[in-house]
Amino acid sequence: MNTATPASTLALENVSFAYGHAGLFRRTPPGRVLHGVDIRIASGVTVGLVGESGSGKSTIAKLMLGLATPLEGRVLLDGQPLQALSRLERARTVQMVFQDPYSSLNPRATIAEILAAPLRVHGIGDAASRGAEVRRMMDAVGLVSAFAQRYPRELSGGQRQRVAIARALMLQPRIVVCDEPTSALDVSVQSQILNLLLELQRERGLGYLFVSHNLAVVQHLADEIVVLQGGRVVERGTANAVYFRPGHAYTRQLIGATLLPPDSAFAAGVPA
Ligand SMILES: Nc1ncnc2c1ncn2[C@@H]1O[C@H](COP(=O)(O)OP(=O)(O)OP(=O)(O)O)[C@@H](O)[C@H]1O
Ligand SMILES: [Mg+2]
Repeated sequence: MNTATPASTLALENVSFAYGHAGLFRRTPPGRVLHGVDIRIASGVTVGLVGESGSGKSTIAKLMLGLATPLEGRVLLDGQPLQALSRLERARTVQMVFQDPYSSLNPRATIAEILAAPLRVHGIGDAASRGAEVRRMMDAVGLVSAFAQRYPRELSGGQRQRVAIARALMLQPRIVVCDEPTSALDVSVQSQILNLLLELQRERGLGYLFVSHNLAVVQHLADEIVVLQGGRVVERGTANAVYFRPGHAYTRQLIGATLLPPDSAFAAGVPA
């Protein structure tokens, strides 16, 4: 469907960041939470970003979506500063899937309304064509059409995450930032959602930044792994190299903390 879209690259180049750096009236100098970070995501490729809580993973996600601007360094989409692009151009290229599908979905809107919203907000199509696009996308993520008129609270966690993924894809982005997309889900559902993400990537050539504190999950999905500690990249390499031959003590510690028992649903189910 989307295979004709040109490939895209989204890159953080030597990015440092501090919360509140743009504030006019701040009293104390803000502490830096990212230091000289380089990360590049390209169409069709998954970069896994791992690190302990507070290491700066979600901050990197925000920068990649243009929701925050770097203190130093650049965020480039196909070589252009992300901030120089219009909201629509950005939305058509980079989208996000959040950890908690419940809090990221409007509880008062039906699934059909939630999915049509990105098209409606950007003035794309009419009600009929948006409805058709919503039905097509629901089918693509494995949601039966009867769910169109339901509300998020009437769906299971896994079904809600399918809605969130469908919503992220409505504008046919080329890059999707997934911030712990399965951490809030039952183990039994996690591998279904991960397989769906892999299938959609194959069909559409999506580039993923896959954020997780769990190196075992990332090793299954990612081509490259970037390890973040205290806002610094301390290790990077192919998924197998980082997972099976970690060079940094911190990476070994992360692997030790997240080793899954061999009979876990995840180890059994991913990837196809
Ligand atoms: N809105 C904010 N204002 C001020 N500081 C923030 C804000 N959001 C995050 N921080 C701080 O920035 C640092 C990095 O946070 P970030 O949310 O990027 O970490 P993370 O790796 O995503 O953690 P987690 O695994 O818990 O989601 C932390 O020290 C955090 O306290
Ligand atoms: Mg986070």
